[in-house]
Amino acid sequence: MRSIVNSRTDLPAFTTPRFDAGDLAFQDIEPGEDQRWSTWPATTPSERGPEPRPDWLVTSAAAIDTELGVVKSGKEADLFLIERAVPGADAAVAGNAVLLAAKRYRGAEHSDFHRSQVYTEGRGTRRSRDARAVAKGTSFGREVAKVQWAYAEFEALSRLTELGAAVPYPVQVAGTEVLMEFIGDAHGVAAPRLAQVRATPGELRELFHQIVDFMHTLAAGGLAHGDLSPYNLLVHDGRIVVIDLPQVVDLVSNPQGFDLLHRDCVNVCSWFTRQRLECDPEELFGELVGMVAM
Ligand SMILES: Nc1ncnc2c1ncn2[C@@H]1O[C@H](COP(=O)(O)OP(=O)(O)OP(=O)(O)O)[C@@H](O)[C@H]1O
Ligand SMILES: [Mg+2]
Repeated sequence: MRSIVNSRTDLPAFTTPRFDAGDLAFQDIEPGEDQRWSTWPATTPSERGPEPRPDWLVTSAAAIDTELGVVKSGKEADLFLIERAVPGADAAVAGNAVLLAAKRYRGAEHSDFHRSQVYTEGRGTRRSRDARAVAKGTSFGREVAKVQWAYAEFEALSRLTELGAAVPYPVQVAGTEVLMEFIGDAHGVAAPRLAQVRATPGELRELFHQIVDFMHTLAAGGLAHGDLSPYNLLVHDGRIVVIDLPQVVDLVSNPQGFDLLHRDCVNVCSWFTRQRLECDPEELFGELVGMVAM
């Protein structure tokens, strides 16, 4: 743990200097329970989100991460709400304080190995020792696997951000944790998933078009989400934001890529059809296949 050394020697020993925004050397702040120093300074450039970086990003080495609680426990990971803020700085100024979502992958024993094998076909594991350990399912292998999922999700988020697709901005990845933009309000209430949203037929049509736009952007980039469903689509202020991307598939190199794209089309269309919005999965699939540059 880092400590900021109090450089003043003239203070009586019994006082605990408090933060003075005007003079950083006066502070003697240590992260408390549920806190840590911001992990941003320790990450390498490749573990940080793509440029241009949003203005709300907090990059100060003086920032502290405070864990505010669990948003949701999923099948493979738990989602925590984190506040990253510079103590004493004006939180209303961009770059001083922000809410982030921390997705932490749990042990691979919780995740679906069969599912993961389909997605990782055609994706090389760089180190053969790691690959063997993952294949054997040793405890070291399970540890490697969850780090790989975290990096796979971070890389997918970064690539999709660069393509201009509607995904949370990926802030950074460190070990089994992906830190990303929190999609929700300023009080830490997460945006609802499409499956829970009550919308008028007009609003539904608009949301459907946004999802199709997202699928177009990915197909044109040679990709498919691979697990698209109304549970992995958030609706925030009338806008769709797509989440849960560790399994994004490369349509050209993954032999099952087009099957997964087809399944995405079926999942999306079935849900909208149940909401009485006409959607033909085969038509959508044909349209998307036509956009893939082979
Ligand atoms: N960036 C985010 N901002 C706000 N909420 C989020 C964010 N990412 C995920 N969530 C919430 O956390 C839940 C779990 O996230 P995600 O789907 O990525 O993980 P998962 O382990 O695959 O979960 P599941 O098994 O439910 O699919 C989501 O359904 C959503 O409600
Ligand atoms: Mg999910």
